[in-house]
Amino acid sequence: MIVVASTNGIVGIDAAMRVLKAGGTAVDAVETGIRLVEANGDDHSVGYGGYPNLLGDVELDASIMDGATLAAGAVGALRNCVYAISVARKVMERLPHVFLVGEGAARFAREMGFDRVDLLTEEPQSVWENRLRRDLPAHVFEHLNQQPDLWRWVDVATDPEKAWGTVNFLAQDAEGQICAGASTSGWAWKYPGRLGDSPVIGAGVYADDRFGAAACTGTGEMAIRACTAHSIVFYLKMGIPLQDAGERAMRDLNDLGGAYLSDMNFIAIDRDGRHAGFMSGEVGAYLFMAEEMSAPEEAPRTRVELNKRWANRVQVQDAT
Ligand code: GLY
Repeated sequence: MIVVASTNGIVGIDAAMRVLKAGGTAVDAVETGIRLVEANGDDHSVGYGGYPNLLGDVELDASIMDGATLAAGAVGALRNCVYAISVARKVMERLPHVFLVGEGAARFAREMGFDRVDLLTEEPQSVWENRLRRDLPAHVFEHLNQQPDLWRWVDVATDPEKAWGTVNFLAQDAEGQICAGASTSGWAWKYPGRLGDSPVIGAGVYADDRFGAAACTGTGEMAIRACTAHSIVFYLKMGIPLQDAGERAMRDLNDLGGAYLSDMNFIAIDRDGRHAGFMSGEVGAYLFMAEEMSAPEEAPRTRVELNKRWANRVQVQDAT
């Protein structure tokens, strides 16, 4: 049995392992671990206390995938509900669908009995306001919701440094069942309705008991375009060892064209419970906890450099 997580999973990894030790499934463990991160108001990249979108509304994305059946559930742009991962699990278990977004996802959450909660807390609200007051003309900021061309201001406000906060959990239970999950409030100051990779099966998460699982944090647009989580598991399926599979999937991102390429990170396990982490940045770690360990440990991620580039914002503004 093993649980692997991004470092912000520190508040949940112990509890996830306890679930496995008590005979719970990998799906139970991943949901338990992620819920504790979603409830952690000090983590501004996930759940309650997450950074809002451009209009100041917190919109959550999450998904979960059961490697035993390849069943999956996901929610995107979910408002007013802390436990996006649990709503995603309900989508997987209660509906013939995989993915709900926006108002439909919020309605389903109410129907499943989840409390309506205001997710925007004081500190993210003030970071949002200070940042936008600094970067946007006052008349635009004061009437942001009425802007007929809100899209123009996304490129001014979005910040690649605030693109990649997400929590990832992977678990393998006593039966060998594997689960992958991810949850995020997404890219800070994103255009309303923007979905990242975290709720997109194959992009932000993928799990298949026969081969392994992977989950991503980073610039979600890149993982969506390259189907990164699925690529890692697919490379495992091709018989490529875990370390090589991860490095290849990272290098694949260098094939992406365009002006908005930033950082990517992922964690992965193979079907034998081996684990690894990867990053494009300079420093990074991930957490793992095996059944015989009394506490989680950090392991370094392998660095694979990406050809990052970011649009010149003024040129983009003037180009139309
Ligand atoms: N990886 C999180 C996001 O792009 O929203």
